[in-house]
Amino acid sequence: MARILTGIQSSGRQHLGNILGAIQPAISLSQTPGNDSFLFIADLHSLTTVKDPVARKENLYATAAAWLASGLDTSKTVFYAQSHVTECTELTWYLNCFTPFPMLANAHSFKDKSDKLADVNAGLFDYPVLMAADILLYDAQWVPVGKDQRQHLEMTRDIASAFNRHVGQEVFVIPEAKIEESIMSIPGTDGLKMSKSYKNVVDIFLPEKALRKQIMSIVTDATPLEDPKDPTSCTIFTLFSLLSTPEQKTDLAERYRAGGLGYGTAKTELLELILSVYAEDRKRFDTLMTDTRAIDEALVVGAAKARPIAQATLGRVRSALGF
Ligand code: ADP
Ligand code: TRP
Repeated sequence: MARILTGIQSSGRQHLGNILGAIQPAISLSQTPGNDSFLFIADLHSLTTVKDPVARKENLYATAAAWLASGLDTSKTVFYAQSHVTECTELTWYLNCFTPFPMLANAHSFKDKSDKLADVNAGLFDYPVLMAADILLYDAQWVPVGKDQRQHLEMTRDIASAFNRHVGQEVFVIPEAKIEESIMSIPGTDGLKMSKSYKNVVDIFLPEKALRKQIMSIVTDATPLEDPKDPTSCTIFTLFSLLSTPEQKTDLAERYRAGGLGYGTAKTELLELILSVYAEDRKRFDTLMTDTRAIDEALVVGAAKARPIAQATLGRVRSALGF
């Protein structure tokens, strides 16, 4: 039996890359018998970049709705919003005082973000410590994350070990990252990694018209309609093959290679595939977003399950530190 925990930032709506790369794998893991799973929306982390309160609320709902619509079972997973369990921010302070400044200054993600963003705030710098608190608060053993989070997990382990060594007690469980190397990076409409920050997403929960517009904006080469095309270098085909049956994939690949298939037709087929594969999830998403009370209730129940565990950990920390 392993305790698994992961968080997802609510810095925008969840796109196809998030669904295939994070949401579906985490849901499968939570369904493995014997696993004890915690999944939370990292809304405090999103404050490092999102400052608008209306956007914050919308992003929280859209993120929660994406997880619930994708099949997350809240009777099997403790599902909560990070900001609802405030013990996390108290633990962040204690951990801050055991975190060497140069470790944070050398973090890749901080360096990347501070090069790109106009607003370089201290929250951005302290981001990994809040993440360590998320994990250590719940005695998590396995933390499924993307490759980009590997360094954050190493920092969490270093901070926890330094703390345990200092107080001479095993206050924290040392967690392990579970990095799924086989999950590919899903390309966005411009062919680069799909990401909220690149504005190249396919948002499968959008109304059909807006989703069509995103699909139609996928960048292709200029091969004329009648010429044979290489499916392996085409974003439309890559996205199609991630969702199709093997037969549908072979059929489309053959039509690419034969010539006479226009990219417009391939885009329409991709749209139809998304609409059919995600038909039920899209309906559930709309229902949840139309009346957000079900989301609020799910998050209240989740926080009530999470809080006693967080309080127990914080009790151990306070007592070890003499508070
Ligand atoms: P974004 O780049 O859109 O801001 P995040 O960095 O918040 O996405 O990532 C949330 C989760 O989704 C992470 O586990 C990450 O590995 C996964 N993920 C994000 N984009 C992709 C993608 N294009 N392909 C596969 N997985 C992705
Ligand atoms: N930083 C993670 C990301 O951007 C989100 C996150 C916050 C997280 N706290 C966490 C992931 C704790 C795992 C465990 O993807």
